Amino acid sequence: MITVALPKGRIADETLDLFGKIFQENFSFQDRKLILEHMGFRFLLVRNQDVPTYVYHQAADIGVVGRDVLEEHELDLIWLLNLGIGKCKVVVGSSVGKGIDYRKPRIKIATKMPRITIRHFSQKAIAVDVIKLYGSIELAPLVELSDGIVDIVQTGATMKQNNLKVDEVIMDSSAYLIANKNSFYAKKQAILDLQSQFQALIQQ
Ligand code: PRP
Repeated sequence: MITVALPKGRIADETLDLFGKIFQENFSFQDRKLILEHMGFRFLLVRNQDVPTYVYHQAADIGVVGRDVLEEHELDLIWLLNLGIGKCKVVVGSSVGKGIDYRKPRIKIATKMPRITIRHFSQKAIAVDVIKLYGSIELAPLVELSDGIVDIVQTGATMKQNNLKVDEVIMDSSAYLIANKNSFYAKKQAILDLQSQFQALIQQ
């Protein structure tokens, strides 16, 4: 049995579609169930940001999660394959017509990704106070909670509709297949088989 942690939402659906194509079977969670067992796999439906935690502690052998989340967690995990789904960018953003005043001795940045934020600005020798939020990050500069934000952009609609602009792209992200190190050695053949099946499928 291989346990797979999937992030609730579109990435889980797209990953289950890939499993469906590989095994010519239907993989789908029933209603509000958080565990699905099928064809020798146990799928766990978890919060996006929690996928690395499940895999790191070996509650799941493998998982699918965005590079942005992996870069934020900095956990010792094996990155097996870029699946090319769930594409987005991590950006620095600020209000249109206002921007971030970098002449200030310290700038305030609202984000749900404090590590990525601190790493990015410290590489530029810019002093930053991070304001940790859990969602609706785009609101922060509008009510002067912060000078700017570090957040995910997919379509760009949220930033546009809230009168924000992208100042800088910190990284391009997409979903990766990851593995726990011990699981990888204990279940190496099965995991490598799955990796090559995924690879063949996404190259089509
Ligand atoms: C993410 C992100 C942006 C939005 C970007 O939020 O934090 O708010 O999606 O998408 P867009 O560029 O297509 O508009 P999410 O949906 O995860 O909600 P949250 O911020 O409340 O966590």
